Amino acid sequence: MSIEFPESSKEITIIKGKRYSICTCGASAVMPFCDGKHREINEKEVCNYKSIKIISEKDTKIQVHSAAWDS
Ligand code: FES
Repeated sequence: MSIEFPESSKEITIIKGKRYSICTCGASAVMPFCDGKHREINEKEVCNYKSIKIISEKDTKIQVHSAAWDS
């Protein structure tokens, strides 16, 4: 079975036990990782973006995507 990911999805390598913050707002300068820019977006546009936190139990690769990355 193959999965089709949106064109704007990103593959990241994650290390066991390390915490990652993934951007959901699309405004980060270090995509796909959160750099805190969502706080400005939330204040300006009265919304409530938050990063997604990931901690893996093993070294692996994953695909990440947010619908806001396409807008
Ligand atoms: S910068 Fe996008 S969620 Fe933090």
